[in-house]
Amino acid sequence: MSRIAYVNGRYLPHASASVHIEDRGFQFADAVYEVIAARGGRLVDEDMHLARLHRSLKALKMAAPMGDAALKLVMQEVLRRNGIADGFLYLQVSRGSAPRDFHFPKRAEPSLVMTARRHRGPAAKLVEEGVGVITIPDIRWARPDIKSVSLLPNALGKQQAKEAGAYEAWQVDRDGYVTEGTSSNAWIVTAAGELVTRQADSGILNGVTRLGLIGLMQREGLKLVERPFSVAEAKAAREAFLTSTTNFVLPVITVDGTPVGNGHPGSITTRLREAYEAYVALQGGAR
Ligand code: PDD
Repeated sequence: MSRIAYVNGRYLPHASASVHIEDRGFQFADAVYEVIAARGGRLVDEDMHLARLHRSLKALKMAAPMGDAALKLVMQEVLRRNGIADGFLYLQVSRGSAPRDFHFPKRAEPSLVMTARRHRGPAAKLVEEGVGVITIPDIRWARPDIKSVSLLPNALGKQQAKEAGAYEAWQVDRDGYVTEGTSSNAWIVTAAGELVTRQADSGILNGVTRLGLIGLMQREGLKLVERPFSVAEAKAAREAFLTSTTNFVLPVITVDGTPVGNGHPGSITTRLREAYEAYVALQGGAR
């Protein structure tokens, strides 16, 4: 089946789908996006993703391209036309295209594009064995809580991790505390068994996976503490893991080459991963 993209009201062959060269997303990163997992043809935590999309749009004073009901229909249609049961949907809204000018254009229509891709999450080996992270300075703008396409520091960090033989880079603020990964949220489990992740202030993106997992933790009776943690604390932690739409819950076994705990995925991480997978499977209609 050939891939189909949605571009401003039209379903086009993926290979030839494009936006205008003066799209503000292209010129100013003046655009926001969402990546949503699909399971069994259904979008996982769709409403939470749409709520975050609206938050991002509002923060940038950008109009929504269409109402939520219409948006949901288009998202479903993109999955259907691409024949995707399990995968990801990518959605991007830019302020539209207009002659290059820093001011917001008076008349530009927001531009909406969507693509979808088949995928089943990270390779089994990574899940079973865990991954390594490196730490890097957080050089992003001061509003990474807005899911904008301003992702150059993230791309540079991810590439740096790859070149260092690591899976992800954990970004560190000026005070030495981990903010988040380049495309995931960062977590540790302390010696006391507390789950620690940075509070969702303007310093991190409030992950939908993070939010879903917080709900599950409460049901599992685990203790959550939302606060910053340092790199030293991460290295000395009992367990560590990362969360995102594309990874769900993935064990982290080294930080800058230092083994976390015994250097293997921890039992709380594994339990949370299984609980999260069950939560996702349920939304996809599995029994
Ligand atoms: N990234 N932090 C950052 C900087 C992210 O880019 C992401 C997601 C997350 C996790 O958010 P969520 O759980 O809602 O996926 C945290 C997506 C997957 C991406 O850009 O591909």
